[in-house]
Amino acid sequence: MVAIGIDDIELVATHDVLELAELARVRGVDPAKYEIGLGQTRMSVPAADEDPITMGATAAARLLERTGTDGIRSLLFATETGVDQSKSGGMFIHGLLGLPKAMRVAEIKQACYAGTVALQSALGVIAREPESKVLIVMSDIAKYELEGSGEPTQGAGAVAMLVSANPALVEIEPETGIYSADVDDFWRPNDSTTAVVDGALSLSAYLDTLTGSWDDYQARGGHSVAEIDRFLYHQPFTKMARKGHRELAKHTGTELPEDVLEASFVYNRELGNTYGASIYSALISLMHHDEELAGKRIGFYSYGSGSTGEYFTGVVRDDYRDHIHTEPIQSELAARNVITFDEYVELHERVLPSGVDVENPRVTNAPYRFAGIRGGARQYEANS
Ligand code: HMG
Repeated sequence: MVAIGIDDIELVATHDVLELAELARVRGVDPAKYEIGLGQTRMSVPAADEDPITMGATAAARLLERTGTDGIRSLLFATETGVDQSKSGGMFIHGLLGLPKAMRVAEIKQACYAGTVALQSALGVIAREPESKVLIVMSDIAKYELEGSGEPTQGAGAVAMLVSANPALVEIEPETGIYSADVDDFWRPNDSTTAVVDGALSLSAYLDTLTGSWDDYQARGGHSVAEIDRFLYHQPFTKMARKGHRELAKHTGTELPEDVLEASFVYNRELGNTYGASIYSALISLMHHDEELAGKRIGFYSYGSGSTGEYFTGVVRDDYRDHIHTEPIQSELAARNVITFDEYVELHERVLPSGVDVENPRVTNAPYRFAGIRGGARQYEANS
C-alpha cells in the first residue's frame, strides 16, 4: 500500500499579541494561574485587517512557494470561524492565490476537529487518485466574552498542510478510532462573535472523548501506548494536553512520562487556542524542537467540542529534518507587535456590519488583507 501523509506544513501567527501577564494584571489574577495553571504565556490577537481568510491565505502561499501547485486538485478549508454561511472560505483563498481552476474547494466544520476531518478525507482522495495532492488550510480565531473564564484561552492562527502519497514528513497510519456524543460543552450561536462555553463540561467532554476514541482505536487494531513514541493532543491551552496525557495513562494503566510533551507546546503557548489548527501547530512545534523524531510513531488526539474526537497515529520519515522550515514562524513570533490591554479590548469589540459598504483600513503589512465589505460581500486584497 502506498504511504500517504503530510508532505509539507506551514504555520502563521497574527501581527499583534497580548502578554497574558498584562491580562492577569488588569483582571487581578495571579499571573501564575495563566502561565502555570493553564500553561500559556501570550495570545495572538488579530489586527483589524486580519481574519481567518488572510491568515489562511498567508500560510498557504508560503507553503506553495516551496511546493508549487502541481497535482493539487482539492483545497479543503477547515474552520469554525467561517466568514460566510454559504461560500467556503477556501474560495477566497483560491482567488487570492490564483489557484488552478481544476480544483474542488470546500469548507469543513466541527469545532476544533475540522482539520482532522480534512486530513482523513484527503487520505481517502489520495488513496483513490495517488498522483493527486490535497491542500488543507486550517484557520481560526478563538474568541470568548471579555472577563469570562475562557478569556485567557483565546488565540488565533493558521496552518496550511499539503497531503500526498510518499510524503516527506509524516506517514499517517490507517488505524483510527473515533467517538462522538452530542454535548453542549462549547458552541458559537449564529448571531454571536464569541463562543459560549461550559468550562467544566468542556474538560470532561474532552477527556471522555479521548478515552472513547482510544478504546475504538484499540478495538480496530491500533498500536498500544508502548508502541507510541510521542503524544500530541488538541491544545486549547497547553495544560489540557497534560490532563489528556494523564487520563490516557490512567485509562491504559501505564506510566507515561510527561517530558515528551514539552516540544509540542512551544508555539501554542505563544499563540493561544487556534482551534482546528492547534494540534497541527503542536505537530510543527514538535518537529522543530525534538531532534530525535526520525522513524518515531506519534499518537494524535484530535478533539472538537460538541463533540467528536479521533485517535490515530503517524510515523515520522527518516529524513524529515531536511524538509522542515523553522523560518519564518520563529522570527514572526519574536517580532509580533505587543499590544496594550486597551488595544486588545478595542480589537475584541470591533465588528464590521455586513449590511453596509465599508472600507477597512490597512493596518498590517501581511501579504493579504481584509479590505472591507461591498454590496454585502467581503473584499480581500493582496498587499503589493
Ligand atoms: P478557570 O475556572 O478560571 O480556572 O477556567 P481554574 O480555577 O480551573 O484554574 C485553572 C488551573 O490553574 C487549575 O489547574 C488551577 O489549579 C490553576 P488544574 O487544577 O486544572 O491543573 N491555578 C494556578 N496555578 C498556579 N498558580 C496559581 C493558580 N491559580 C489557579 N495562582 C477553564 C479554566 C479551562 C475552564 C477556562 O479557561 C475555560 O473555560 N476555557 C475555555 C474552554 C476550554 O478551553 N476547554 C478545554 C477543553 S474543550 C476543547 O478543547 C475544545 C475547544 O478548543 C473548542 C473547540 O473544539 O472548538 C475549547
